[in-house]
Amino acid sequence: MSDETLRFVPRAVDRDSVLILKALLEAGEAFVSGSLLAEQLGVSRPAVHGKLDKLRDEGFEVEAVRNRGYRISKLPDVLHPALLRCALDRIGSQIGLLYFPVVDSTNSEAERRIASGEPSPFAIVSSRQTNGRGRLGRVWQSSSAENLYLSVLFEPNIPPQQLQHFTLWAGICICRQLQSFVPNAPLKIKWPNDLHCKGRKFAGMLTEAKIDADGIRSIVFGLGLNINSNPNEFPEEIRSLATSLHAIYGEPLRLNDVAAAVIRAVEEAYGICIGSSDGQQTLSEAWSPLDALAGQQVTAILKGSEITGIAVGIDEGGALLLLMPDGRKEAIRAGDVTLKK
Ligand code: BTN
Repeated sequence: MSDETLRFVPRAVDRDSVLILKALLEAGEAFVSGSLLAEQLGVSRPAVHGKLDKLRDEGFEVEAVRNRGYRISKLPDVLHPALLRCALDRIGSQIGLLYFPVVDSTNSEAERRIASGEPSPFAIVSSRQTNGRGRLGRVWQSSSAENLYLSVLFEPNIPPQQLQHFTLWAGICICRQLQSFVPNAPLKIKWPNDLHCKGRKFAGMLTEAKIDADGIRSIVFGLGLNINSNPNEFPEEIRSLATSLHAIYGEPLRLNDVAAAVIRAVEEAYGICIGSSDGQQTLSEAWSPLDALAGQQVTAILKGSEITGIAVGIDEGGALLLLMPDGRKEAIRAGDVTLKK
């Protein structure tokens, strides 16, 4: 590892904080007594008091009322490893979790972790990236702790064909999950890797795999998701093209719950691809209601030449289908497409 990468240190998921948060969150509006927490943690009451102070320092508001106990009145509005662990456990995900306050790129960190023996699958989440990478060598702006920078790594050891639609399924599963947080506006996928709402991008996906003669060694699914950031503060060059879930919904969202739901969605997509869970629909059926391009005139590059046609969905191979003026359908298998104004 270079000096640069050695600077990135994960913040541990503190077990006691997870237990305290679970008890307090399950109780909701009710108070939880200090002695019950002390018993659950196997520590003294003053020790519980100290742990609650630590949570307060980390952005939680915790009320303490004599003879009644404690309850949470406000959650932090940034990623918090123990809170995220609670949310993952609540929705049934046992995936390994590593949280970095700052990292160069969660995808790069996932590669380094697997090389140093981290058991997979695992998710890496970060509040900031210093070298966030987008598709086609682009930069992914990663300075806002109100957004999510996520990578999920799997070691499948299966033939590459089995995971060739993984990113498309991930887009489908993530879009469906996010729609439940943002029910007021349709969330769509712009083939192949962008999540859009009303023509503006709010997330991008970047999947990277290591393949050898025996199959896929590792696959890293990366997602940059604008959650609570304010689009007016986005860099000038993307301001008119990008949005966030907060801007779409009109209210800030619970960042850690959204992150957990997204990680679960990636696990679900992986399960569909490797056949351990049932997608219930074919790829093109599942894609169809979420297709941001359907019916639009788009331009793409095919065999080195620019072509323009009407997007009419994807085929079972994941290629974008363009209906050409002469009635033929052309399949676009890779690259980017642009919408004709
Ligand atoms: C794109 O739209 O070009 C894809 C953007 C992918 C960005 C995410 S942020 C988390 C992960 N780490 C990276 O360096 N990139 C991906």
